[in-house]
Amino acid sequence: MNLPSASQQPLPSDLGEAMEFIRNVPIFSDIDGPELAKIVRVGVRKKYKKGSIILLEEETGAALFVIIGGKVKIVRTDDDGREVILSILGENDFFGEMSILDGLARSASVVAITKAELFMIHRRDFLKLMQDVPAVAISLLKELTMRLRKADAQIKSLSLKDAAGRVANVILQLADDIGTIRKGRVEIDELPLQQDLANMAGTSRETISRVVHMFIKKGHLELQGNKMIINDYEKFKNLFI
Ligand code: CMP
Repeated sequence: MNLPSASQQPLPSDLGEAMEFIRNVPIFSDIDGPELAKIVRVGVRKKYKKGSIILLEEETGAALFVIIGGKVKIVRTDDDGREVILSILGENDFFGEMSILDGLARSASVVAITKAELFMIHRRDFLKLMQDVPAVAISLLKELTMRLRKADAQIKSLSLKDAAGRVANVILQLADDIGTIRKGRVEIDELPLQQDLANMAGTSRETISRVVHMFIKKGHLELQGNKMIINDYEKFKNLFI
């Protein structure tokens, strides 16, 4: 979850400033000056329009991406074109590590849900960096562990919870991925479509609508256009986790 931040800054063209930006990315925070400068030199900045497909499931992977600005969704699709959002990532998050680590195809597609600016590092450069700087590998493992914990929570929710619990779990996941916390209230801007929420919760659009309105009636949530607000995040979490 994010704290309210100033508007997103593009990666500066000046090397020193660019290094400062990369140093703030959690997986690179333990790299010292010369290594950091190398990363900034070998990486490439790329800009994507809202809706662009950045990675396609099943393609061969050759690079890792760090998000400089914007948001992306990680999705899997079935043969009928139905999609489920696995996660939404934002500034300072990374993706594309799975296929560069195991050499298999991309595990999911990645689509820009806002305009996005990314920093791309080729496989060989990233693998070399992990060998040279073990702290990067440790940070990466920490993040992967967190993603596994979230996936475990999703499995539990989808298998064991009733509709209200599954919808609450999806809302809590979105709060975690893209929410902004202020004095115990969490705001989720640009809420995904009802159909996306339904696919994430393994339920129908009608159930999403019914449960969200029930949560609003009970005072847990507010909707303001495309924004959802969890009035008391800790209380809501404790009720449904
Ligand atoms: P890769 O398989 O190379 O390409 C798709 C990327 O989506 C994958 O690497 C991860 O970075 C990311 N990804 C896949 N599954 C999840 C998930 N459950 N949560 C967050 N990110 C994911």
